[in-house]
Amino acid sequence: MKVLVVGSGGREHALVWKISHSPLVEKIYAAPGNGGMKEAERVPIPVHEVVALADFAAERAVDLTVVGPELPLALGIVDEFQRRGLKIFGPSRLAAELEASKVFAKEFMTRHGIPIAEFDVATDFSTGREIIESGKYGYPVVIKADGLAGGKGSLVCQTHEEALRALDLLINRRVFGTAGDRVIIERFLPGREISFTVITDGKNIVPIVTSKDYKRAYDEDQGPNTGGMGAVSPCPYVDANLYVKIMDSIIRPTIRGMLEEGREFRGVLYAGLMLTEEGPKVLEFNVRFGDPETQAIIMRLRSDLVEVLNSVAEGLIPEKKLEWDREVSIDVVLASSGYPGKYEKGKEIKGLDEVGEDVILFHAGTEFRDGKFYTSGGRVLNVAAKGKDLGEARAKVYSAIEKIHFEGMFYRKDIGVFQ
Ligand code: AMP
Ligand code: GLY
Repeated sequence: MKVLVVGSGGREHALVWKISHSPLVEKIYAAPGNGGMKEAERVPIPVHEVVALADFAAERAVDLTVVGPELPLALGIVDEFQRRGLKIFGPSRLAAELEASKVFAKEFMTRHGIPIAEFDVATDFSTGREIIESGKYGYPVVIKADGLAGGKGSLVCQTHEEALRALDLLINRRVFGTAGDRVIIERFLPGREISFTVITDGKNIVPIVTSKDYKRAYDEDQGPNTGGMGAVSPCPYVDANLYVKIMDSIIRPTIRGMLEEGREFRGVLYAGLMLTEEGPKVLEFNVRFGDPETQAIIMRLRSDLVEVLNSVAEGLIPEKKLEWDREVSIDVVLASSGYPGKYEKGKEIKGLDEVGEDVILFHAGTEFRDGKFYTSGGRVLNVAAKGKDLGEARAKVYSAIEKIHFEGMFYRKDIGVFQ
């Protein structure tokens, strides 16, 4: 088979790496890919150019396309491919609204009795301000852009001033453009945060092992929210009882509800959950694999990923469930100074050859020129390993990181530490 992976980050490198192990696969393309994806041929088409991507897949007779990021899904890449009879793994545009519109997701979950934080919607500054000043939510309060904002559209505000500033940024200044046409104001939920992911063909579910990502930029959950600074799998907070509860109260009703509403959901459903005293509640849905959760999860996958993705793309889940390693995995992101804000690019990355074979490097923001790697993004590299326990996996990863260097490199030292 020829497989095209759409995207360029660490998640996509992990997908490419795993897909390259499938005996079914003879050729992998990555659009646009990154400098470290030695398993794939890069194709210089950006992820939002869905028509050009479909043209490419048709020309090269690609057998299966796998989409990493949310943007092409929200733009209808799956609809475009299917219209042309091209096989693709991911949800349709209508189904991708679960991530592309937080207002849609909230209202959907309300309709289907899925537990969430209480919320209001505002479309102008003064309404937003009234809601905040009514005191209904107290502080902290969470303010979110409705649309896609690259993971930066949710602001946890500790004070009245911060809340007004957030409203101003989203509604008046439109820092995320039309994503801020509608804004959600919601109750802050204290608790532990986890990621919960399944693969579905719209009716049936293939479970995926649990994971947790670390969203804040700095150790001990300090600093700004990022796309994720590292991940572990499994997530020690999720026992068998909680697993069943999440499936029954959140995942199954979501997949059933989408089907009932004519938005059959095929692909990866990823729920960001808060484990509250009242039980698990949904913070957000993503309609794709998590980044960096995928890097941790995929190292533990024994089964052939291509087989399952291909079956889902055909609308039929395989009868065989996925097999997983019992070992734990961790994955630490090496980021550029300044991330998730502004950062510099083009710094030479040294020491990659010195890393041993017990560690896997999934590249994210890297470019390869004249025999050398350079930084080209905020999240640059993922250093990942498995171990019999977290201590062993952490030791492998953190000793490998000591060998790697680029100017401005920073990373969290507490990935895989649980209090
Ligand atoms: P979201 O984009 O909705 O996943 O939000 C980004 C991050 O903000 C989440 O991963 C949480 O850490 C935090 N967050 C979002 N909503 C809430 C909430 N209602 N209560 C507490 N934290 C939240
Ligand atoms: N790690 C969070 C995400 O993929 O959205």
